Amino acid sequence: MQSRAPLLEALLEYNHMARGNFHVPGHKQGQAWSEREKRWFGSILALDLTEVGHLDDLHDPRGVIADAQALAAEAFHADHTLFLVGGTTAGNMALILSLCQPGDRLLVQRNSHQSIFHGCYFAGVRAIYLPTRVDVVTGLAEPLQPAEIDQLLHQYPDAKGVFITSPSYEGMVQPIRAIADICHRFDVPLFVDEAHGAHFGFHPVLPLSAMQLGADVAVQSTHKMLSSMTMSSMLHIKGSRMEVDQVARALRMLESSSPSYPLLASLDVARRDIVTSGRQRMEQVLHHLISLRAAMEAWCHLREVQMPGIQDPLKCSLKADGRMTGFQLARWLEQRGIYTEFADLAKVLLVFSLGTTAVELQTLSIELLRLDQHLTLLPHRNAHDIPVFPKPVSSDLSFAEIRIATKEVIPLTEAEGRIATEMLLPYPPGIPVILPGELFTQANIHYLGRIIEAGGKVKGSMLSSVCQVSVIK
Ligand SMILES: Cc1ncc(COP(=O)(O)O)c(C=O)c1O
Repeated sequence: MQSRAPLLEALLEYNHMARGNFHVPGHKQGQAWSEREKRWFGSILALDLTEVGHLDDLHDPRGVIADAQALAAEAFHADHTLFLVGGTTAGNMALILSLCQPGDRLLVQRNSHQSIFHGCYFAGVRAIYLPTRVDVVTGLAEPLQPAEIDQLLHQYPDAKGVFITSPSYEGMVQPIRAIADICHRFDVPLFVDEAHGAHFGFHPVLPLSAMQLGADVAVQSTHKMLSSMTMSSMLHIKGSRMEVDQVARALRMLESSSPSYPLLASLDVARRDIVTSGRQRMEQVLHHLISLRAAMEAWCHLREVQMPGIQDPLKCSLKADGRMTGFQLARWLEQRGIYTEFADLAKVLLVFSLGTTAVELQTLSIELLRLDQHLTLLPHRNAHDIPVFPKPVSSDLSFAEIRIATKEVIPLTEAEGRIATEMLLPYPPGIPVILPGELFTQANIHYLGRIIEAGGKVKGSMLSSVCQVSVIK
């Protein structure tokens, strides 16, 4: 059955059967478009249908969508899978909204994606942050310590659950099994934001997935590391600590009532392909990556950043012994047609997948070697000049208290000691440097200033300029 794609098949059947389309969307499978643009969009518009005939309904699935989700659940080791058209962003928020009531406590990783904090904000949750230590060599957060989660669950016996992120954007994996065992001893669910790990468990050299390791829920951006279309994700549930119906209800509130069929069908195809031919294609990419990493050994300046924990082999963070920032590395590569995932002050991140071709990897290898040679011509700067992710300092105010506080906008440079009312986050990766309720310190002001100065993007939730920040008056 895994060789079937019921949702795609139903869309193709519609195309075969239909003699008149008298329903939305108004482009009528592209008939309203000019031929010029249809050259690009045509085949997708033919699939851009709605809940008619046998096409089922995402928010009350009983037919082909239910079948497609059931096949996904089987493939991803879940009891239930829900397809998402608002990305992992929607899944993360729906989970928090369906688990928590206003005032509830939830244990949350501090270096989480903004969607988790937005979920806490909407649900009025008091987030208790898991201790985060930054590895001074790499500037990356170290893996979580399960014993500290155990201690926090003792300290907050009313906590509703634990929400962690694994793998990180850079591909570092958390000790999920140990954390799941602790959560289950306290009978609370473990949620894993597995946005970057949809491919886990599909090849022996890849880490196991959160579902395989005992998590209660995992949300995966199938579009990031597998092959579905952008914005399509999956939410997997195992066991009885999280009710599917509750999550589905929250998703109905958060997502469009007209979900995109091309996105949904692309999830169906991504699942079919990873199960039926994925391992073989993954094998080829992994094989080429072994050669690339072996070639890197001989380079003088460019190095792969070694993660402080287990690493996804499909992610590669490169740094250049202080001769260029990550932003400069990315720009140098971009000028030669090599587009990377993201850069920060220290490093540039490359992402590979089963879609990466041998030709692309060969081009990359040639350009990286050239870059390494170019670096020799540049003056060496102290690598320690690059600031590490600053330690957050909490004011203990909840999101709800901040929401109603009187605010004022002041220059970032004058904010030291003041309490932030908005998130400030370099994007990507979308991990907030400052959260509402945290204090501006010399370290985080300097860190943000350096990112802006180096040409990085920093978003402040509501403000158009991060040089102006919102603080409590
Ligand atoms: C760790 C993490 N979680 C969640 C998200 C949101 O995922 P999506 O883009 O599928 O909404 C991202 C996006 O970059 C992410 O890095």
